Amino acid sequence: MPGDGIGPEVMAVALDVMYAMAKLHAIDCDVIEADLGGIAIERFGTPLPDTTLESARAADAVLVGAVGGPKWDGLPFHENPGGGGLLRLRHELDLYANLRPVRTVGHSGQHIDLLIVREATGGLYFGRRGSTGTGEQRSAFDTMAYSAPQIRRVLERACGFASERGGRITSVDKANVLASSRLWRDVAEEVFELHLDLDSDHLHVDNCAAQLVIAPEQFDVIVTENLFGDILSDQAAALEGSLGFAASANLGEGSAALYEPVHGSAPDIAGQGIANPSAAIRSVALMFRYSLGRPDLASQLDSALETVLASGAVTADVAGRSGASFTTGAFGALVLEELHSSARGEKA
Ligand code: NAI
Ligand code: MG
Repeated sequence: MPGDGIGPEVMAVALDVMYAMAKLHAIDCDVIEADLGGIAIERFGTPLPDTTLESARAADAVLVGAVGGPKWDGLPFHENPGGGGLLRLRHELDLYANLRPVRTVGHSGQHIDLLIVREATGGLYFGRRGSTGTGEQRSAFDTMAYSAPQIRRVLERACGFASERGGRITSVDKANVLASSRLWRDVAEEVFELHLDLDSDHLHVDNCAAQLVIAPEQFDVIVTENLFGDILSDQAAALEGSLGFAASANLGEGSAALYEPVHGSAPDIAGQGIANPSAAIRSVALMFRYSLGRPDLASQLDSALETVLASGAVTADVAGRSGASFTTGAFGALVLEELHSSARGEKA
């Protein structure tokens, strides 16, 4: 689902890379293209057509570019590309664990390698909300609500990732103030009791935000509720230097999964062919890791991308105004070249 704005531009590169990997490793892939977001509103009058939802349910994995744009963002929440399209799709597939890996790449001096697991189907974004009154009588509210099973399943999942990674996990809450956070911490403690092999702890969200700036290399897996995770993961993505690097996986029960760049449709640069395709490429790597049972190919793809970045090749978002930069397509071609040359190296 390429979506809108730079979505189709970065998706074209991501698919090229995926087909190249498939060919190099003799994997069959069957790709179905479906409309989501603004493009679906134009073609079908709804941001999530039934046919799109059906093909998502039938697929082993869904890959999304980005959705939205000024033409549609003013529509009511349930009719716009984000609310009625992407958020609804994630909700329909019950994708409760949003994974955002953060790894600093070639051009950065720090060694950051962390994974944020954000609860994605509960909390403030899905609780009761409302507004009343006019003028100075206006008031509004949102509700942060969680049940124990909702917290438990994402904590369990996050512990699984921690044991495959560095063995450390930090649960983030605001248990000194919020009732929903006190429940979060109680359940997290129960789950941690079952995973005594892991080095586990709890942090308040405000402290976690500060620690991410001061010493991000201390973290391995961070697990937290929806709103806190939204903010912390964008903050952590910024450590990589550009939103153009951040990829995410959205996982549900069984095989349901959706992979996407964290960034949006970037209307300010859409159509110029200068978007950074790294996040979309990393989304393909995440798909190999978590849906297609090929963590080896995920690592190969990630390291091909890192090799290209370490060589100094960057897109305009990283180069800034004055620096030389590659277009989306030219950058993608470098990654393809690196994949092929490392495959030749393996054979030789
Ligand atoms: P955005 O992520 O689209 O853009 C923020 C800034 O980062 C812009 O200056 C943009 O040019 C830059 N940027 C983003 N991705 C880039 C890339 N791959 N390469 C180079 N530069 C990149 O967020 P913004 O501006 O808040 O939203 C724009 C539209 O995207 C809106 O319609 C919004 O609703 C939608 N959106 C969609 C998301 C999704 O599909 N997951 C997530 C966030 C926003
Ligand atoms: Mg966000």
